[in-house]
Amino acid sequence: MPPKVPSAMSWISSSVVICFRFRPLLLFVFFALCVASLRVTNMEYISHYNQHNFTCEGWKRAPEAAAGNCTRYGRNGALRCYGGISNLPAIPEQKMHRLEDIIFCGWPKHTFNPITDLQAFPKIRSLIIEYSEMREFVFDFPEMFYLQSINISWTNLSQVNARTFKRVHALRIVDLRWNKLVQLDGPLLLPRYFEELYLADNPWNCTRNFKWLLVPEKGAIVVDRDEIICMDKKYRDRHMLTVMNFKVITDILPLRNNPYYRHVVDIHLDNNRIETIDVLEGGFWFEHFRLLSLRGNRLQKLPVYALDNALDDNLDANLLLLSGNPWQCTCIFTMRFREILMKYNEITRDAINITCTYKNSSPVRRANVLSLTREDVCKPEEEPKIYPLDMLNAVLAFLILLILSKLAYDYYYYKNFGRVPWIVMKLP
Ligand SMILES: *[C@@H]1O[C@H](CO)[C@@H](O)[C@H](O)[C@H]1NC(C)=O
Ligand SMILES: *[C@@H]1O[C@H](CO)[C@@H](O)[C@H](O)[C@H]1NC(C)=O
Ligand SMILES: *[C@@H]1O[C@H](CO)[C@@H](O)[C@H](O)[C@H]1NC(C)=O
Ligand SMILES: *[C@@H]1O[C@H](CO)[C@@H](O)[C@H](O)[C@H]1NC(C)=O
Ligand SMILES: *[C@@H]1O[C@H](CO)[C@@H](O)[C@H](O)[C@H]1NC(C)=O
Repeated sequence: MPPKVPSAMSWISSSVVICFRFRPLLLFVFFALCVASLRVTNMEYISHYNQHNFTCEGWKRAPEAAAGNCTRYGRNGALRCYGGISNLPAIPEQKMHRLEDIIFCGWPKHTFNPITDLQAFPKIRSLIIEYSEMREFVFDFPEMFYLQSINISWTNLSQVNARTFKRVHALRIVDLRWNKLVQLDGPLLLPRYFEELYLADNPWNCTRNFKWLLVPEKGAIVVDRDEIICMDKKYRDRHMLTVMNFKVITDILPLRNNPYYRHVVDIHLDNNRIETIDVLEGGFWFEHFRLLSLRGNRLQKLPVYALDNALDDNLDANLLLLSGNPWQCTCIFTMRFREILMKYNEITRDAINITCTYKNSSPVRRANVLSLTREDVCKPEEEPKIYPLDMLNAVLAFLILLILSKLAYDYYYYKNFGRVPWIVMKLP
């Protein structure tokens, strides 16, 4: 008998059965494939480095360095330029548009203009600049959607603005090690999905303020912050984190006790570790200050009445900044705090950014103090639950009642019929 050839119908039906039987497995395989393909597309740009050993090692010896020429590598477009970009016009435009990895070895100018110098590469994903006299970016990077990594090393870059990388929307990694950076004006503003910033091996001036490195949300993005060493005269060769820890103020008492501060009317104490300002209460300074900035500290509560009195008496008070503190959302405190913020809204000018945190809430719940209502923070206590001890109390109360009624019963019978309870007869 010839072997039976399965008909098309039976093939289809058995496949359908298999599909149904192994639905979860198939779904899993499907998702795994999706994830894998996503990873591949995401990681693709890294592969170019591996293919071509994309570094600037020995770039000066290359013959094109003298001419300042670029060379293209690979199908998807990697471009390496030695000493300049003088032959760019010779590269066909549609090939330029596809370039993803750009490496400039020995960028010849003192400045880099991200707007004009990158204009030719709309699809750029990775930018490397190594060995250059370049000192600054003349403009911030423009709106860019593909650039994911920027690596600038061995240049004379000495200054970066807070907004330099802000509009590079896909940016994940910025490596600025081995340059000449001295100071930053504060944490860099970085796009939403940013992951890693490297800042070590620059001649940082720790006399400047880098306390934001200690604030977990802002500092953690600098992945090598433990390795940053100071190079200024005062803190030379010390770790920046150690220095900033040392500089951070936790106690505000000197404002009250030290006569030197009597006539200092403006005090900025942002990003310290101040937990309380209760000590200022009733002191001279609290009633005579003009500006007090306590943003980014550890304040949870403050003496609301004292503040009210102080601000009432202090006609010079002009600015009091209190946002960025872990204020507590509790009924009495928060409601009074809110009143004060509204009453002195001319002075507490960052009030709209003041948030409070609910204690014992997980996940952490925050609310804007100005928009809180009494119902939000003053909820009645939860219904008390019945605990075992309460049950025992109820049982005992019941037993007491029982004994009392038995007593009353015995007494009644004894009075009316002269009968004594059985237990009395048995007593010796
Ligand atoms: C640099 O580019 C120019 C123009 O494309 C070319 O004529 C010259 O030979 C190149 N020089 C080197 C060293 O590749
Ligand atoms: C940086 O500038 C100094 C002089 O200020 C110079 O000697 C040095 O060669 C420059 N570095 C680079 C990588 O060009
Ligand atoms: C940036 O370039 C330097 C020097 O080539 C290299 O050591 C470093 O690993 C690069 N950084 C990243 C994040 O790839
Ligand atoms: C470091 O910063 C301080 C304060 O701004 C300044 O006085 C000092 O000259 C700077 N030192 C260096 C080496 O830049
Ligand atoms: C509130 O916070 C936002 C975002 O951090 C900031 O841009 C704005 O200037 C702050 N407003 C005030 C009044 O401080």
